[in-house]
Amino acid sequence: MTNLEESIQLKRGVTLKNRAVMAPMTNMMSFFDGTITDNEIAYYALRSGELGAVITAAANVQAIGKGWEGELGVHDDKHIPGLAKLAAAIKKSGTKAILQIFHGGRMSPSAALRGAQPVSASAVKAERPEAVEPRALSDEEVVQVIEDFKAAAIRAIRAGFDGIEIHGANTYLIQQFFSPHSNRREDQWGGSLEKRYHFVDRLVNEVIETVDNETQEPFIVGYRFSPEEYENPGIRIEDTLYLVDHLADKKLDYLHISLGDFKQFSKFDEVREETILQKIHDKIAGRVPLISVGDIRNSADAKEALENSELVALGRVILSDPHWASKALSGRDDLIRLDVTEEEREELKLNSGVWMFMQAMMADRIK
Ligand SMILES: Cc1cc2nc3c(=O)[nH]c(=O)nc-3n(C[C@H](O)[C@H](O)[C@H](O)COP(=O)(O)O)c2cc1C
Repeated sequence: MTNLEESIQLKRGVTLKNRAVMAPMTNMMSFFDGTITDNEIAYYALRSGELGAVITAAANVQAIGKGWEGELGVHDDKHIPGLAKLAAAIKKSGTKAILQIFHGGRMSPSAALRGAQPVSASAVKAERPEAVEPRALSDEEVVQVIEDFKAAAIRAIRAGFDGIEIHGANTYLIQQFFSPHSNRREDQWGGSLEKRYHFVDRLVNEVIETVDNETQEPFIVGYRFSPEEYENPGIRIEDTLYLVDHLADKKLDYLHISLGDFKQFSKFDEVREETILQKIHDKIAGRVPLISVGDIRNSADAKEALENSELVALGRVILSDPHWASKALSGRDDLIRLDVTEEEREELKLNSGVWMFMQAMMADRIK
């Protein structure tokens, strides 16, 4: 049985001082060109120190992969000085700093791309209102995307981060290659489950190799995935079990599932016997640590989640309570702040973009 306060040494050598990490959360605080702002640094500094690691908001590795306004960028060397300040602010009191790197693919709205057409594995629109039909990447462009993830990893190392998380979840480009909905290719990158996995396989191998060549220091490489999609065709648990089975044997430090509720069952299971988290954890069978997430609010939730994972990620609760970890670790769950008022926004360094999410979350709890 794993306890929240236990440290953990990851495969590639970094040790986290406890099992609680801040989940990656977009805050829409960066400048229009992806450069970090002082407000954003203050927002992270407030939430660092007590947690084992902070995983940053998604940072885009290519300009055409920008997912929204105010997004953090890592697609140009000009971002390194700002990212260095961010890494230093997170690391100040022994919390490890992990930069999440991503590409929006077909989820990038044209407005964020200043009118340019988004790109994806295939020219298939997402099933959501106002989705734009993307352009399918050419073979050379697919290879260039991989190169740009590698360049982003190098920038993260040069900026002083302790690691990166490859964002293969939440319907963005990496997931779009793995999904039968968005990937209709018939070349080396698509056509069968194995070929849809090819992009992930090559990306992860090449990023790991790049990191190993760039630094002798231990440096975290993690991978985040979403276990299933609503669309038909879409990713199902069986596809994901194939994915994690293959990723678990790589030199990755952790796998990080993306779930709204750590206790959730598959949408497609007729008989609800095992939660998604249990199925994934069983498949991994101890080969690599798994990070669980999804409405973990207190130490009892964390304890339960740690029955089927080695680490827990905290999202919205870290927005409302930056000191969640010290309270949960000392058994003072009664002090954890779940709701915040408009007056507390400034103290919590929450801008209007994040505040919208907070309000939706509190409304959800009231229902
Ligand atoms: C405001 C907000 C922004 C988010 N941005 C990201 C992101 O950039 N990358 C990512 O992988 N997940 C993102 N997520 C999902 C969270 O990492 C997490 O999985 C989700 O909030 C569930 O955890 P929670 O119930 O503890 O909030 C975001 C969630 C929220 C609420």
